[in-house]
Parts: sequence; structure tokens; C-alpha cells
Amino acid sequence: MTEEHATVEVAVVVNGTPRTVQVEPRRLLVQLLRDDLGLTGTHVGCDTSQCGACTVHLDGRAVKSCSVLAVQADGSSVTTIEGLAPDGGLHPLQQAFWEQHGLQCGFCTPGMIMCAADLLARDPDPDEATVRHAIEGNICRCTGYHNIVKAIMAAAETARSGDATPAAS
Ligand code: FES
Ligand code: FES
Repeated sequence: MTEEHATVEVAVVVNGTPRTVQVEPRRLLVQLLRDDLGLTGTHVGCDTSQCGACTVHLDGRAVKSCSVLAVQADGSSVTTIEGLAPDGGLHPLQQAFWEQHGLQCGFCTPGMIMCAADLLARDPDPDEATVRHAIEGNICRCTGYHNIVKAIMAAAETARSGDATPAAS
């Protein structure tokens, strides 16, 4: 006999596009994004709110999407790494990570950038200690963090110079 699970409808705007998905109440936001919508730029590194690889923006604030139920996002806007630079170019943070060698394997990078975008939207001129504090919930096993911090500070400087605005979405 096939076991049937009750589902509920979740309506979210993802990267500017309204989406409606039927989900089990226990489904996580990260599962909705990756498995239901195919947005695999958001990574899963731990599933226990430790690593930050799953960080997205929920109504403009960074959240770990493995710690949010899909039903909690009903009626909200979600931005993933795929939607950070909707014009197809690179967001200033993406450009800076590239230029400052802020990644090696890249697994942590989407979450790191979404976390940093949230920081720079709130604080366009953070000092190094502020940047390090902001990303303390995001684990990188490769870089030692130094170039990540350099990249975030470089992106902030680019934005302040008026070349681009790393706004949260
Ligand atoms: S997968 Fe969400 S914090 Fe690690
Ligand atoms: S670049 Fe490999 S985990 Fe950060």
C-alpha cells in the first residue's frame, strides 16, 4: 500500500518569479529550492544549521534555509545565489571573490556571498572585525577565510565608490 502524506500549498516569490509548490509540512526551504525548483546553487553542507552553505535571503535577510520550513516561507520573497545578479552579470561580491581568490572548492561560496550581501546592505563600510563576525556562521574548509574577508571588503569599497550597489534582495 502506498503511504500518502498530506501536503500544503506554499506560494513564494523566488528570484522575482512567483512559484507555487505543494509540499509536506516537514519539507525544508532548502529542499524546496534545490529539489522542487532545481536551484542547486544553494548548497547543503550539514543540515544542522552549522555550516551556512544553505544561506539565502528571506524577505531581504540572510537565513540558513536548512533551518526554515518551506511553509514558513509562504507569502515571502526568497533570493538565492542564482538571483543575486539578475542581469546575468556578476554581482560586486561575486566579482570580488573572483578577483581576490575568495574561494577554492567553491562549496561554501554561495552561502558566504549571500551572508555578505546581507551584511553590506546593512553596513556598507564594515571593518575587518565586523566582516569576520558576520561570516562566523559560515564555514569554509579551504581558504582560511583571509581572502574571503578581503573579497567582502573589496566589494564594499567598490559599492561605496559608486560602481555598483551590493544590495540585499
Ligand atoms: S546546510 Fe544549512 S547550515 Fe549547513
Ligand atoms: S572554498 Fe572550499 S569550503 Fe570554502
